[in-house]
Order: sequence, then structure tokens, then C-alpha cells
Amino acid sequence: MNIVCIGGGPAGLYFALLMKRQDPRHDITVVERNLPYDTFGWGVVFSDATMDNMRQWDAPTAATIEQAFNHWDDIELHFQGRVIRSGGHGFVGIGRKKLLNILQARCEELGVKLVFEREVESDREYPDADLVIASDGINSRIRSRYAETFKPDIVTRPNRYLWLGTRKLYNAFNFLFEKTEHGWFQAHVYKFDESTTTFIVETPEHVWKAHGLDQADQAESIAFCEKLFAANLQGERLMTNARHLRGSAWLNFQRVRCERWWHFNGRSHVVLMGDAVHTAHFAIGSGTKLAIEDAIELTRQFGEIGATPEHIPEVLTRYQVLRGIDVLKLQNAAWNAMEWFEAVGQRYADNLPPEQFMYSMLTRSQRISHENLRLRDPAWLEGFERWFAGLAARQSGIALADGAASPPPPPMFTPYKLRSVVLKNRVVVSPMAQYSCIDGVPGEYHLVHLGARAMGGAGMVVAEMTCPSPDARITPACPGLWNEAQRDAWKRIVDWVHRETDARIAIQIGHAGPKGSTNAPWDGAGADRPLAQGNWSLIAASARPYLDSGGQTPRAMTRADMDRVRDEFVRATHLAAEAGFDWLELHCAHGYLLSSFISPLTNCRDDGYGGPITARLRYPLEVFAAIRAAWPQHLPMSVRISAHDWVEGGTAPDDAVEIARQFKAAGADMIDCSSGQVSADQKPVYGRMYQTPFADRVRNEAGIPTLAVGAISEADHVNSIIAAGRADLCAVGRPHLANPAWTLTEAARIGHLAQPWPKQYLAAKQQLERSLERERAQAGTSS
Ligand SMILES: Cc1cc2nc3c(=O)[nH]c(=O)nc-3n(C[C@H](O)[C@H](O)[C@H](O)COP(=O)(O)OP(=O)(O)OC[C@H]3O[C@@H](n4cnc5c(N)ncnc54)[C@H](O)[C@@H]3O)c2cc1C
Ligand SMILES: Cc1cc2nc3c(=O)[nH]c(=O)nc-3n(C[C@H](O)[C@H](O)[C@H](O)COP(=O)(O)O)c2cc1C
Repeated sequence: MNIVCIGGGPAGLYFALLMKRQDPRHDITVVERNLPYDTFGWGVVFSDATMDNMRQWDAPTAATIEQAFNHWDDIELHFQGRVIRSGGHGFVGIGRKKLLNILQARCEELGVKLVFEREVESDREYPDADLVIASDGINSRIRSRYAETFKPDIVTRPNRYLWLGTRKLYNAFNFLFEKTEHGWFQAHVYKFDESTTTFIVETPEHVWKAHGLDQADQAESIAFCEKLFAANLQGERLMTNARHLRGSAWLNFQRVRCERWWHFNGRSHVVLMGDAVHTAHFAIGSGTKLAIEDAIELTRQFGEIGATPEHIPEVLTRYQVLRGIDVLKLQNAAWNAMEWFEAVGQRYADNLPPEQFMYSMLTRSQRISHENLRLRDPAWLEGFERWFAGLAARQSGIALADGAASPPPPPMFTPYKLRSVVLKNRVVVSPMAQYSCIDGVPGEYHLVHLGARAMGGAGMVVAEMTCPSPDARITPACPGLWNEAQRDAWKRIVDWVHRETDARIAIQIGHAGPKGSTNAPWDGAGADRPLAQGNWSLIAASARPYLDSGGQTPRAMTRADMDRVRDEFVRATHLAAEAGFDWLELHCAHGYLLSSFISPLTNCRDDGYGGPITARLRYPLEVFAAIRAAWPQHLPMSVRISAHDWVEGGTAPDDAVEIARQFKAAGADMIDCSSGQVSADQKPVYGRMYQTPFADRVRNEAGIPTLAVGAISEADHVNSIIAAGRADLCAVGRPHLANPAWTLTEAARIGHLAQPWPKQYLAAKQQLERSLERERAQAGTSS
């Protein structure tokens, strides 16, 4: 085949040499506008895994790179006067020039034609090419030319960064954080050859502007950075090799992705590769890895399907399908890491102690979990766990079991105190409606259901949404707290939990509002649909039905309704206190009554209870204040919110921070960050721990403890969330329906043998631990 690569970066060069190696009969040319030694930037990093891949595909290139690269395992954080280091991270650093020169030399050795100093305007300049590789980088001209086919989606991010070098040599990947009077700067620092280190300085746009760096030339910017990081640089200078860039040379990262990766121009097939088709933020240093792996995959497909012009469409189709998946995963991880660095100043740097800041930074991409960190550096992780357990012991007033002698408990199994209530660990059984009451009275079913889960090891169980009046129920089978019979039935359950277990028990009180008078999911027309008969009339912030068709339309609440409902909430609160609950949660989520006031999608009032967020919160805050006054002062109260409506124009995470601030000011102790169910038009993006970013934001921006919930299904998730300070507690719902003893099982699974079990079940503890240990041994891992 006749192949032309437009752009001689890692993608174009590596693909050219792999294809030539696969079949020397191919006629391959790489056209590059720069000189062989002329490039922008300093060193790049990629992981050990990428090196392994390259070794398999072209051993000589890998061997030359290995002679030239710098390998290191450690990450070192410099933050608030502390230096924290952890190992096992496995990176390779190499000068970009060096890498390109190695690839160029190998291309020449194999017979690839290299053309330098030629700027290609269009793929049409190569009418005889069977295949044109558009490896022309992030500003790809070929991508723009066929934008209608490729449909690029390009997002420019707010942070500014400057790519510098220094002669100071570092023996670990360093992250430096410095605070100025206007905000935080960070530097990503890694050595890439015997005499040079990459030094990328990054800061938010407003901090950059406040320092006048938008007006500064390169020399002034460098002088500024040298002064800022002077203590670390110890007299070494910072250098630029981007003199060709106009203005300040501070860049914004652009995230590129494309809907389609290839196109037939009438004569040749044109395919995008590397940065031309996707970019990944340098926060996880994977741009070169992606370019290299694109080249490998396309070569593999030609090898498997056939390297002739007729096979090209099939090869390119498979290339896009296969690479698309990997790239998406990596771009998601890079996005998380990038957002962490964008938000670090406003969210983490001023709030988290250095140990936890380090943990949060190491897990920023959310690809590395607690157990991954244990594999990378067990000693560092144990030190962290001990530090965290000490913090939890001081916070809760519960001393550690055996002090320094025994292994520290993982973060999930550390105690937590709110007001006077101490939870033995960080797991909460999420409230889950059971639709199994008669006249709002919880019965034997609830005793067994909640009792079993209270025995199952969680620190607290939260009883399902319980309603302050008959017309506040979702279904006729929902529980209530409006009379003494209900109070006494709840008291029986609460007393049982307190007598037989060391779990705490909470109640969630809520009013169904516009989503009331419906069926249990398994009855009649199903959930959210009106009852076949016996419907009661509904109230809400505004007269808007939850379902566009077939739903009942509520009446907008009058002030008299508001007074009545508030007083009913207060009555329910008194009854909950008499029943002996340890904790009260107010349900302000999921489109129910109080949620219907908070969301702009469901509140269109013009009477001072609608409009801006402060007005929409007025009534929910009034109810909260009234029940806070009725609930014993020594007991905690949380508020469940929908932190994201997942609908354009609805509540978004920014609003969630404001909502949390207001509830905090009103005396809430914790925000339980759920999302959605406010509008039937919602488009949630599910995934593991998908609501945890909301808990993280609320906790670290509004400064209030949070409860994370949603697809948290492994101890590893809980440990990672709690350890990184993304939430204080984790609620686990559906896994607890499947397994009441989820917490005990997970303790055994991660080898936390110090976990107490109910005495009646002790015989099962050892057996489970042994069989899981055997499984781990067979799988080649140990706890
Ligand atoms: C600050 C920063 C730090 C980074 N750090 C890392 C890191 O640590 N690890 C990592 O893996 N990646 C890193 N990257 C990303 C990495 O540099 C790119 O992802 C990688 O180089 C992509 O390779 P490529 O071949 O697709 O594109 P490029 O390397 O951009 O190559 C494209 C080539 O095409 C040439 N070209 C463009 N247009 C034309 C034309 N019309 N005619 C002829 N030639 C043309 C260009 O001159 C260039 O040589 C970083 C990027 C930045 C900005
Ligand atoms: C059967 C069922 C009933 C639920 N009932 C309630 C409820 O009463 N109150 C509430 O706030 N959330 C309720 N939820 C939501 C859960 O508390 C939890 O937020 C959700 O299931 C996500 O957590 P998970 O992924 O761990 O299941 C319910 C969920 C389920 C599956």
C-alpha cells in the first residue's frame, strides 16, 4: 500500500515504522513541517504498561527507548511545608526530542521515507495514497477540513499552564503546591534525561489574571514562576523552548474527541490518529501513550484483516470501535484528574490535611483505588491508614483497639461522631421504601428487615421515607408517623436494634407531594402511576404533574397548606424522638414535596417561595428549622438532596453547594448527596460511585460533612471515598437488599479480621474468612 502520514509526532512515526516492519513492501512516507530536532516541549511520561506494549511490537525501538529513558517509581508531594512520598507508581520519562529522534532513526532503518520542513495543506496533495494518516496533532488541519464527517467536540478548559524545563534534577515525580495572595499554583515536575526536568506550572484563570500574567511576556512569566517556586528550585533557573509562541505562552488545555475517526476523500482513506482525534490532559500524562497505542491497534488490524486497499474500510471500522472504548476510558480518567487540579484551590488545598491531600491527589483520576494503593506501596498505605484511624479516634473519642501493635483499621471501619452519636464505622444502610405497611404502621416485616440489616455490620440503618400525614405518603403501604400506634411500632423496632446490636438507627421523614397517591412498584400500573382507586389530592410547590401523561396534577400549596405541613413534620419529629431514633434525616430529594420547592424545574411560584435559589429554599428551610427545634439538640440531623436533576435548566452541582450552605447555616449536620428523580426527562450518567463527586464538592466547598450514595458496592469504594475526604459516610442501598450482612462480608473480603460479628454468627465468621483467603490465594493475591 501507499501510505502517507501527515505529521511526524509519536503517532505518525510509530505507525509508519510498525507498518513498514509488518510488510516492507508498503511505500510509507512521513511528512513533518518541523526540522528533525525542532520541537516544542520537554519530556513526556508514560507508564510501564505502555513500555511493555511497545516491547511486544518492536523490540529494537523499545530497547533504544529503554536506554534513554528515566524510570522512577515514586511520587512526591510538596505541600504546606510537608514532603510526602509514596512508591510503586512506575513511570517512564523521556525527552520528547529524544523519543522523536529514536522513532525517526528506526523509520529510516526500516525504509520509511521522512520528509521534513514541509507543511501539508491538504490530504489531496497525496492523490496516490491508499491511506492517509492524519497524525497532525491537536490543531489538526485535516480534522478541520473534514469537520462535518469527523464531528470534533473540542472543549477548552479554564486553567492556564506553562510548559517549562529546569536543570534541577528530581528523583521522583514531584507535585509542588504554592499559595499566593490570589490563590494556588501547582507544578508537575519530572526529570526526563540526565540533565533536564520538565516543569509544568498550572493555575486557574482568575489567579493567573490577578497576578497580571495575562499581560506578562515569557521572560516575566518565567521570573514569576522562579520566584514562586524558589524554595524548591534552590537557585536553579526555569527555561522555555517555546519562544515561537506569541504572547505569554500560557496555554489552556483543549479536550478533543471525534464522533467519527475516518473518511474517504474520493481517492484515499483518511484516518485520524493521536492528538488529532483525542487528547488527554497531562494530569495523567497519557497523550503519548494514546498515540502509540493507536498506532499499534491500527497495525494489528491490518495484520489480522489484511493490508490491502480493499480491506481498509473494515480495518478502519474496527480500529475506531476498539480504540474508541479504550480512549473513552482513559479520557474519563484524565478528565477526573484534570478537574481535580482545576478545583484543587477552591476545594482541597485549604481543607484537607497534607496526608489526606496526598491520598486525594493519588486517587484523583478515580482509576486508582485504596487496594491499588496498597499494591503499589503497602508501607505508605499502612502509614496513611494509621494516621487516618488516629484522626477518627480523636474525632469520635473512641480509642483505637490495640494502639500501634495491630494493623490499623481500613478507613471504612473507623468510627465517626456527629453531635452525641458515635457510629462504629462509615457504612450506612440507605433508606429504601418497602411498601409493606398497613395504615402507616411498620410491622413484623420491618422488624425483620431492619433488624437483619442492623445485625449485618453497618454503622447505621436508615428506615425508609416515613410520612408525617396520610396524604404525605407515596403509596397507601408507606410508613407514617402521625399517631401513637405508629410511634409505638417504630419504638419496638428501635428498641430491638439498640438491645441486640451496636448499630444506630435513623429515620427519614418526607412528604411525597406531587409524587404521592401512587402504586407500589409491583401493583397495578406500577410506580409513579396513580392508584386505580382511592386516590387522594396532591400538593406541591407548583401545579405541575411529575409525569407528563397519566400522572395526577397537584395543587400549588397555599400558605395555610405550608403551615399545616410544617406542623405535621414537627409532630412526626416529636414522635420519632419518642420512638428513640438516634438520627433524623429530612428528605428534600427525588421530586417529593420539599424537593419540588428546591428545583427550578418544579417550582414556578412568584410569591417569594419561587424564583432564585434562596427563595426556592425558603419553605424547605422553614420546615427544617421547625423540626431542628423539635428534635433533641444532642442528636444529629441530615438532609437528603438531589444534587443534580440531570436535566438542562435543573439543579446542578453548583446549586447543590449553595443548597448545602443554606442548610448548614440552618443547623444541618450532614448533607446526604443523592440525585435525580425530580423530572421524568432526566438523563443521568450512571457508573460506579456516580454521585460521589457531588458529595465531594459539597463537603469540600460548603464545608459540611457529607454522606455519599449511589453504586457504592465494594469495600474498596467505601475506603477510597472516606480516605480521600470525598465524604464522611457512605450509604449502600441495593447491595444491602441482596445481602443484609454486606458490611460483615466485605470486611472478610478485604481481610479485616478485627471486625466484630454478632456472637450468634461467630461460627460463620471464621469459615467465611478462611474460604475468602483460599480464593485470594488461588487468585494469587493476599489481603
Ligand atoms: C504540557 C504538556 C505536557 C504533556 N505531557 C505529556 C506526558 O507527560 N506524557 C504524554 O504521554 N503526553 C504528554 N503530552 C501530550 C503529548 O505531547 C501528545 O499527546 C503527543 O505528542 C501526541 O502525539 P501525536 O503524534 O498525536 O501529535 P504531536 O506530537 O503533536 O505531533 C504532531 C506533529 O504533526 C506536525 N504537523 C502538524 N501539522 C502539520 C502539517 N500541516 N504539516 C506537516 N506537519 C504537521 C507537528 O509539527 C507535529 O510534529 C503533553 C502535552 C502537553 C501540552
Ligand atoms: C427499593 C428502593 C427504595 C428506595 N427508597 C428510598 C427512600 O425511601 N428514600 C430515599 O431517600 N431513597 C430511597 N431509595 C434510594 C436509595 O436510598 C439509594 O439512594 C439508591 O438505591 C442508590 O444507592 P445504591 O446504588 O447503593 O442502591 C430507594 C432505593 C431502592 C432501590
